[in-house]
Amino acid sequence: MTKRMIAGNWKMNSAQSATGEFFDKLEAWFEFDELGRFASKAIKSGDLEVVVAPPFTSLETARSSCTSDLVQIAAQNVHHEAKGAYTGEISLPMLEELGCKYVIIGHSERRHIFGESDEFIKRKLMASLESSVLPILCVGELLEEREAGDMKKVLKRQITEAVGESLTSDIVGDMIVIAYEPVWAIGTGKAATDKDADEACGYIRDVISSKFGPSTADKIRILYGGSVNLDNCAELMTQKNIDGLLIGGASLSVDSFSRIVAKTAPGIYRQK
Ligand code: PGA
Repeated sequence: MTKRMIAGNWKMNSAQSATGEFFDKLEAWFEFDELGRFASKAIKSGDLEVVVAPPFTSLETARSSCTSDLVQIAAQNVHHEAKGAYTGEISLPMLEELGCKYVIIGHSERRHIFGESDEFIKRKLMASLESSVLPILCVGELLEEREAGDMKKVLKRQITEAVGESLTSDIVGDMIVIAYEPVWAIGTGKAATDKDADEACGYIRDVISSKFGPSTADKIRILYGGSVNLDNCAELMTQKNIDGLLIGGASLSVDSFSRIVAKTAPGIYRQK
């Protein structure tokens, strides 16, 4: 069984005090709430991974508040160089030192607000694969691209430009997570339908399969992101090609994030 991933992307929200509070509550939920204990069992048995990506300034607080190690910490961005004259940037060795397990690369807000190119995203992805911080590569089409019938073309380009020919199938299958996040669904309250999300994630698998073979395509974890909430999360997770969720707005409060984790945890929750 594929290890599911439920990841929260906090974007530019939650400074240190809010982060400390979030993790204190989440830790208590894992320990004392029946649903929390159910989710923690799934995490400990290796069927579920819960990830939170706070802003850089809250990473240390997140790590030190997460005493149970049930939650993995991710950064939201990184620079591909290890050090140097790159004012305002953060490197992979810095994230390693902070105990980050993952880094989000190529989020649509990085691509479209900050103008990150496929080439720049590729450098970040390749550098992360040389480090101990694993990439969550985001891909997704704009509304006008979907309406023009170019969804597949865009996904194929973003994936093939980022995931270079030099990588082995094992590296791709075991170390990279891909998140399909259609830009029109991010922060809009208009999530993709289960069918559309599954179709796009299935297409991403086809692209990986054609480059790295069917077993790699089977192994690689593919998440859906874009207006995921408590009402649509469970249905999305029943889709064949969706192995997890990348959640923005609904990951900011412990209440909604923990309920999404519980609702999508593998296994059947049995009330006493
Ligand atoms: P959203 O954001 O859940 O608020 O739509 C998702 C994301 O940008 O990762």
